[in-house]
Amino acid sequence: MNKAQLPIGIFDSGIGGLTVAKAIEEALPHEHFIYFGDTLHMPYGDRSPEVIRGYCRQIVEFLIQQPVKLIIIACNSASALAAGYLRQLYWQEVEIMGVIRPVIQEMINQHVKKLGIIGTHATIQSGIYPLLAQEYHSEMDIFQMATPLLAPMIEEGLFDSEVSKALLHQYLSNPGFSDRDAILLACTHYPLIKNEIDAFFNGRKLIFDNAGPLAKSAKKYLSENGLLAEKRMGENRFYVSAQTPHFAKTASMFYGGPVEIETILLND
Ligand code: DGL
Repeated sequence: MNKAQLPIGIFDSGIGGLTVAKAIEEALPHEHFIYFGDTLHMPYGDRSPEVIRGYCRQIVEFLIQQPVKLIIIACNSASALAAGYLRQLYWQEVEIMGVIRPVIQEMINQHVKKLGIIGTHATIQSGIYPLLAQEYHSEMDIFQMATPLLAPMIEEGLFDSEVSKALLHQYLSNPGFSDRDAILLACTHYPLIKNEIDAFFNGRKLIFDNAGPLAKSAKKYLSENGLLAEKRMGENRFYVSAQTPHFAKTASMFYGGPVEIETILLND
């Protein structure tokens, strides 16, 4: 089979990564994908680098077996802690793209000077954003803060509510954010509260998320490597490692439409 006809593999710690899958679908309507959400081991955001790398390795092996032509790590925590490790292991087999470099490049292109970042403990503690900004010789000044309660809150559907208002106020009132010209929502779940965050800052800050820049980078990679599909060759497939309560509802909240999901257990 011509490699261009293969699906793209997308994975996340859970179903929040469907926000990234959605952006891929919008940017690349001729492509189809296989999505894997590691709901059995979610949240990744509170786990150690070694544990996250082990989970990701199993998922990448599963996706390589399908096979896929490109693997996208939709999860910020996994991109922060496992992308380099996975690329070293699998560079001969498949291109593996994380969500972090594309958005850093986009923010540098847009001349962001003072950036505020919110994300999970794993993402923030990894220090990956300041590190990569430095690697690109950017002088962007970065203030970052872990906001660990936001992802579970969103998963419970508690956004656009008094709860989300109070929690966002608690986190974003930190003086570190006040002089920022842009805020990066460095977590799969946060696009769902983008409007609330924008409103908190009275529309005065640029708000970035990872999904759009990632989709642009994926398109560029596929086109430069002759891997763009000319027409859609298959249906999207969605897998998770465990079904969770209210699953279908939560999945369609992140994806913006109904999703048929199969459960599959990878070797532990
Ligand atoms: N997908 C994770 C991320 O983007 C958030 C949820 C989790 O902690 O697993 O960092």
